[in-house]
Amino acid sequence: MNKAMLAPSMMCADFLHLEEQLRLFEREGIDLLHVDIMDGHFVPNITLGTDFVRMLKKATSIPLDIHLMVERPENLLPAIAFGEGDYVSVHYESTVHLQRVLAAIRERGAKPLLALNPGTPVSMAEEVLGDIDGLLVMTVNPGFAGQKLVPSALEKIARARLYLDAYGMNESVIEVDGNVSIPNGIAMRAAGADIFVAGTSGVFIGDDMAGNIRHFRRQVFGE
Ligand code: DX5
Ligand code: ZN
Repeated sequence: MNKAMLAPSMMCADFLHLEEQLRLFEREGIDLLHVDIMDGHFVPNITLGTDFVRMLKKATSIPLDIHLMVERPENLLPAIAFGEGDYVSVHYESTVHLQRVLAAIRERGAKPLLALNPGTPVSMAEEVLGDIDGLLVMTVNPGFAGQKLVPSALEKIARARLYLDAYGMNESVIEVDGNVSIPNGIAMRAAGADIFVAGTSGVFIGDDMAGNIRHFRRQVFGE
């Protein structure tokens, strides 16, 4: 089993206290910052953008986990500040040149992940397995925080793990995004998930964020 990592979802952050929250994440040894970029077309919402990513890059050394929910991500890629140590996810349906986009991400030293909507089969990864460092299994339909888990998602995580392992890709990660609460997280970890995106279900609840993080790691990661 790969190391479990926690990635707070920055679209759920309190933007009036961003600096404070970043320092707290640093103190708590947060592994990754999940950054949702939406274009209002691929998903029916608009969230964070290229300037926000640039600002985060300057403000903290925590690696980024950039989730592109945009049509034709190849057009946006040059404007996004990422590099060595960062993850960048691209949705299967978002581009007709999937392999080229994933290769361009790797070219910049980052780790490309293929993002799969709840309705997208794991087997769609087949032809780009050599171009990815893992899969982002969406556990809700992307676009909004605060949604309910799609029930088939847990089995899909387990199938994704088996699928990658069957190709000898044991070190490739499985990321889960959407309604990653503590109880869901426990089931997701048992199914083989490694990177846990925590939004309004996991970390951004109430005002004791450090407590939430510790509690999540204890319960879900067994730390
Ligand atoms: C969904 C977003 C998630 C979202 C998860 O499209 O990609 O990152 O913020 O947050 P919760 O925990 O609210 O489901
Ligand atoms: Zn996301």
